[in-house]
Amino acid sequence: MTLALAVLLISTVPRLTHSSATDLPVVLGVTGASGLAYAVRAVHHLLKADYTVELVASRSTYMVWQAEQQVRMPAEVRQQEQFWRSQADVPNGGTLRCHPWGDVGANIASGSYRTAGMIIIPCSMSTVGKLAAGLSSDLLERAADVQLKEGRKLVVVPRETPLSLIHLRNLTTLAEAGARIVPAIPAWYHQPQTIEDLVDFVVARTLDQLDIDCVPLKRWEGHLNPDVTHLH
Ligand SMILES: Cc1cc2nc3c(=O)[nH]c(=O)nc-3n(C[C@H](O)[C@H](O)[C@H](O)COP(=O)(O)O)c2cc1C
Repeated sequence: MTLALAVLLISTVPRLTHSSATDLPVVLGVTGASGLAYAVRAVHHLLKADYTVELVASRSTYMVWQAEQQVRMPAEVRQQEQFWRSQADVPNGGTLRCHPWGDVGANIASGSYRTAGMIIIPCSMSTVGKLAAGLSSDLLERAADVQLKEGRKLVVVPRETPLSLIHLRNLTTLAEAGARIVPAIPAWYHQPQTIEDLVDFVVARTLDQLDIDCVPLKRWEGHLNPDVTHLH
C-alpha cells in the first residue's frame, strides 16, 4: 500500500472518540423559588469545571433577584450571561448560554439536542405543578418535559415549606415519571462554617444525581468517635 493510500484510508475512517460527561451540556433551569444562591453556586462549580451550561431562568426569577439581592437580572441574553458569570464569580471558563424564558424554539426545547440532563434549582411549587401536569408553557417547562420524554435525568430541587398535599402529590408524580427530587435541605454532619458551605452541600448532592462531581465537599466517610459508636 502506498503512503498516500494509507493516509487517505486513515483520514476517511470515522474517529472513535471517547465521550465524557463534560462533552454534553448541562441544562440549568432557575425558577422563582427563594434561594437563587443555589443556582449561582451551581453555575460557579459547573463553569469552573469547564462544563457547558444551557441556562433558562423563568419569568418570576427576575422578581426574586430583586427581592433577594436587590439587583436587576438583564433580559438580553449576552448581558444575562455576563450577569450570571459576575454573580457566580467565574469571568472566564466553561461555556454559558442563557436562553429567554419564552424561547420555546431554543436548542434545549428539542429532544434531538443531546444533553447530560437538567437540574432545576431552586424549583418553585408552581413549576413542580406544571411539570407534573405535563405543561410546556415556557422554555424551562418544555426543556424539563424533554428530559423526561427522552429518558434523561431531570433533577428537581424544590424549595418550599411547609408542603401541602398538592405539592407532595405533584412531587410524587414527578418521581414516578423518573425525576430525582433533591430538596434544598442541607445536612450538618460536614460541619459547615459558612452559608456557602450549606449551599454547596445542596448543589453537590444535586450534581451527584447527574454523576457530576465538581463541588469540593467533605463527604461522609463513616468515622465516628468510638465514644459514641459503642452506645449502639
Ligand atoms: C421573593 C419571592 C420568593 C418566593 N419563594 C418561593 C418559594 O420558595 N417557593 C415557591 O414555590 N414559590 C415561591 N415564590 C412564588 C413563585 O415565584 C411564584 O409561584 C411564581 O409563579 C413561580 O413561577 P415559576 O415557577 O415559573 O418561576 C416566591 C416569590 C417571590 C416574589
